[in-house]
Amino acid sequence: MTDVTLGSVRVRVGVLISGRGSNLAALMEAAQDPGYPAEIVLVLANAPGAGGLEIARQADIAAVAIDHRPFKGDREAHERAIDAALRGAGVELVALAGYMRILTPWFVQAWRGRMINIHPSLLPHFPGVDTHARALAAGHDRHGCTVHWVTEGVDAGPVIGQADVPVLNGDTVETLAARVLTAEHGLYPQCLAQAARELRDAANFKPSR
Ligand code: GRF
Repeated sequence: MTDVTLGSVRVRVGVLISGRGSNLAALMEAAQDPGYPAEIVLVLANAPGAGGLEIARQADIAAVAIDHRPFKGDREAHERAIDAALRGAGVELVALAGYMRILTPWFVQAWRGRMINIHPSLLPHFPGVDTHARALAAGHDRHGCTVHWVTEGVDAGPVIGQADVPVLNGDTVETLAARVLTAEHGLYPQCLAQAARELRDAANFKPSR
């Protein structure tokens, strides 16, 4: 790419998913705006049946399953295959969107400062799983979601943004999860844009292609 100011470059994003891909869909919709600072160039799933793969394919976005099962517990070998696919597609920033595998330190290090995640709680409350049930059990009156940079600790990296929702009388895990998910779909595109701008504006950023 020649003669472009970095201000017009769209950061190349790879999205890692494991399931239905509703956050992926929200990111894809935001990225349809030509002024959005990121474009989704690859969707990878560890589960061949992940619904998000089909969402991506219908929009003509490259979407590939790299099944973890043939790697027989060698998590790093699986991640090396994912890493090769990301780099092969010229990915510059990784967005985890419901990717349900704990990452090895090797992968986290390989993408340090270039990988973000969405987590369904107001971190530092409730890292890990079952966040909605735990928020209800704790009697919190606010709950929500967080987008953060990924570091070695589980759900522990620097926060990019948060969105909160009320916990209402009579809420169940399902009603609360649905309210948080709607907030996720608003938050993640904003935070991906912010992360992409930060990356693009960093002094050492060179577009991969
Ligand atoms: C979301 O709640 C996200 O916060 C969590 O996994 C869920 C993924 O949902 N990490 P979807 O696949 O984006 O619909």
